[in-house]
Amino acid sequence: MKSKSRLFILIIASVLILAWIIPCIIFQNSRPQLKWDWSKIDTKKVTFPKDFLWGTATAAHQVEGNNTNNQWYLWESTIDANGKPMIAGGQRAGLACDHWRRYPQDIRIMQDFGLNSYRFSVEWSRIEPQEGVFDTLAIRHYQDVCDSLIAAGIIPMVTLHHFTNPIWFEKKGAFEKKENIADFVRFTEVIYLALKDRVSLWCTINEPAVYVVAGYFQGANPPGKKDTKLAAIVLRNILEAHVQAYWKIKSLPGGEQAKVGLVKNMTQADPYNKWNPGDWIFANLIEGVFNGTTLNFLKTGKYRFVMPTMAKLIEENPKAVGSMDFIGLNYYSHYNYKFSFNLDKAFQAHLLPDEIKTDMDYASYPEGFYRAIKTVSEFGVPIYITENGIADAKDDRRELFINQYLYVVSKAIADGYNIKGYYYWSLMDNFEWSLGYDMKFGLFGIDMPTQTRYLKKGAQRYRDIIIESRK
Ligand code: FCB
Repeated sequence: MKSKSRLFILIIASVLILAWIIPCIIFQNSRPQLKWDWSKIDTKKVTFPKDFLWGTATAAHQVEGNNTNNQWYLWESTIDANGKPMIAGGQRAGLACDHWRRYPQDIRIMQDFGLNSYRFSVEWSRIEPQEGVFDTLAIRHYQDVCDSLIAAGIIPMVTLHHFTNPIWFEKKGAFEKKENIADFVRFTEVIYLALKDRVSLWCTINEPAVYVVAGYFQGANPPGKKDTKLAAIVLRNILEAHVQAYWKIKSLPGGEQAKVGLVKNMTQADPYNKWNPGDWIFANLIEGVFNGTTLNFLKTGKYRFVMPTMAKLIEENPKAVGSMDFIGLNYYSHYNYKFSFNLDKAFQAHLLPDEIKTDMDYASYPEGFYRAIKTVSEFGVPIYITENGIADAKDDRRELFINQYLYVVSKAIADGYNIKGYYYWSLMDNFEWSLGYDMKFGLFGIDMPTQTRYLKKGAQRYRDIIIESRK
């Protein structure tokens, strides 16, 4: 009797252990968590194609300064119900880097640095400050920027939408309403026709999922909503805006030759403990909506946003298939999730103990960069690394970051991935959205009162890699 009950307990225990371990093994195989031994890797051994684009990236609102026409300007003076400002410490973008006026000087420092491409965004709210009214001077400004870049041997890459909306568009409900997509497409047509003779690389929307998560799920960015059902709708509409903008450009003169792509932030949602199936369930749920929904839509035309008990939206648009001539990959790091019955807690990311911290709420994770390249390579179109960089106010981790992340790019190219260019985020320290000026991503720092740019020590490795790659 005793031995029978012992056997019974043993069987139950084995079944439970297997039910715990087997899903973890299956999950680990489906999404392998890469980890390399960096002490065995010589990050100095890197090679890049001769025609590689070496770039840096900015976004209009973060650098231009003095823009009062978009929803971020309003957001910066908003306070929440507890009297707390929306931006850390009540900061505002204000004059930012004064890039609107100082772009000639900024182009010079890019040129001196050895860069041969610059990704920047055109500010819709300056170009169309009122619905249907286009500002020819603002358009002229961006033509001048492109002319100056080209004269300096720097290829412009233009982003049409980088988080900001004109106030009139925001007031109409922005991408919450399907019928508003037409406004974005009309803007796309105007600015495409104005710049098409100067620009061949176009990014439609920057990080659709980040725009949606920050604005409609966490509420940290405007419009500061926390509504998962609405988030599902906005993501569908903003992806649809990409599809329509893509085909609009293709229908216009020169559109066939233009290279048009979407920019995808590929932060992976990983389990905090890869041997905990609960952590996997949460990680996979978040991975599914943050990355899976967008990638799947672009691959198959099937839009599927499902968060059990919270939101479900399923639709189809076959025109999404083939709507990218390239994919822009923004990569910084991954987030790690722990299971919890408390949803607020479960959606909070955690740092792994052995990773190098950045000043953002994530660590440095170069192996994740390799994973992300592999994931987006499935589209079979060229890849541009449209953003990658580190917030490092002390500038004591930037050099290591550049060594490791560019080693990843070099290895990925050697392994056959079709990567055409790399844009370091960012040219200079700038207004990091809800975190204000505290996050220092720049290759250059800025002495704000005098607007003087100075090259950071940690950035010099990037410059050296560029020089070496051309030898
Ligand atoms: C990306 C944004 C960019 C900048 C970097 C740090 O998500 O596209 O504007 O804020 O993060």
